[in-house]
Amino acid sequence: MALDAREAMERLNTEAAPLNIWLRTQANAAAQRPWFRETGLEASGRVASGRVGAAQLKPVAHHWRWRQIAPYLERIAEIAREAEVPPIEFAERQQFLLTNPGLGGRLQVTATMRCAVSIYNPGDVAPVHIHTPNASRTILSENGGYTTIEGERCTAARGDLILTPNGTWHDHGNDGADPVVWIDVLDFPLMEFLDCVWLDEEFPGATGGNARAQVATDDSGYSQRLYGKGGLVPGFVSHRRGFGRGTSPMFHYRGTEVRAALDGLRDEASDPYEGVTLRFVNPATGASVFPTLDYRAMLLRPGEETRFKRETASTLYQVIEGSGATEIAGGRIDWQKNDIFVVPGFGWRRHVNCGEADAVLYAISDMPLLEKIGQYRAQGRLPDDTVAELIS
Ligand SMILES: [Fe+2]
Repeated sequence: MALDAREAMERLNTEAAPLNIWLRTQANAAAQRPWFRETGLEASGRVASGRVGAAQLKPVAHHWRWRQIAPYLERIAEIAREAEVPPIEFAERQQFLLTNPGLGGRLQVTATMRCAVSIYNPGDVAPVHIHTPNASRTILSENGGYTTIEGERCTAARGDLILTPNGTWHDHGNDGADPVVWIDVLDFPLMEFLDCVWLDEEFPGATGGNARAQVATDDSGYSQRLYGKGGLVPGFVSHRRGFGRGTSPMFHYRGTEVRAALDGLRDEASDPYEGVTLRFVNPATGASVFPTLDYRAMLLRPGEETRFKRETASTLYQVIEGSGATEIAGGRIDWQKNDIFVVPGFGWRRHVNCGEADAVLYAISDMPLLEKIGQYRAQGRLPDDTVAELIS
């Protein structure tokens, strides 16, 4: 009788396991479908079974409804007010983190991104620190507290985007009378995967190490003063702030200015796949604000419907204004103000503003990372339903 090779190999595997080797008994199984050939609208790919798929995880499209998650902020704030030692002291933050149901409970929404929603009670301070992950916060409160970055004190308001790039000292707080809420986004999972996460809290203060907050050396407005005139970049500064490389020297983008800029473009011929968009960029280079993540603001005018598009990159959406729907291959997300949702890479999506008012979303994508490693691709569906490559 012929030998059953698979069985024989499995027996050897049991024997060889202590040596940390694996005798191959299974073919590779790609979690995505062939990009150029299988372009149907159905949801894409699946994780493998058996040894090959043992540690494989796959993010799924998911929607966090503000009306469901927001009450937990109030409850966190209430516990903090009544506690002897509030969560911000023992957990560093008062927040909940979003978890993607496809990622087995990991603190991440895509392969590269972490997202949290934080609340700061009046008087709360997150002490000054520095780390390797790049991070941002999108302010949801009308009065948005402050973040001091490399000495620049950014006083925030709703719709503002505040960056704390890799290698910048920063501290946060709420010096107002009401709680402050914002959304944090970080490329933490990517840095963790690459095993290059580190953090330092020993900021040199006036009397030695570990000051609680930086002394503000620049008032709120430094980012706007230096970089706030589109197309004009000062020639007398190095554009290097902190020790990160390829990160934006502009730390504070004001929501009111973003909104006004979108409005000023509302009558232009817009992108058929994305509506009217504006990228938040490194003003010194025009590149994405972080080497890993791209941020953009999108305006969908009343009644606007985009065409289906898909990318190898994953995107996190934050609903700043209005309501609408995003159709994702095999599903539909009906979103409202402050909702957060993710569309993983390879999935077809289209946006619809079914309301009578403007809709504004901030979209954060790991496209810059995929571009750098030669893996960024995008396709769009034309009105006759043929598929066009959007990246040559
Ligand atoms: Fe931080």
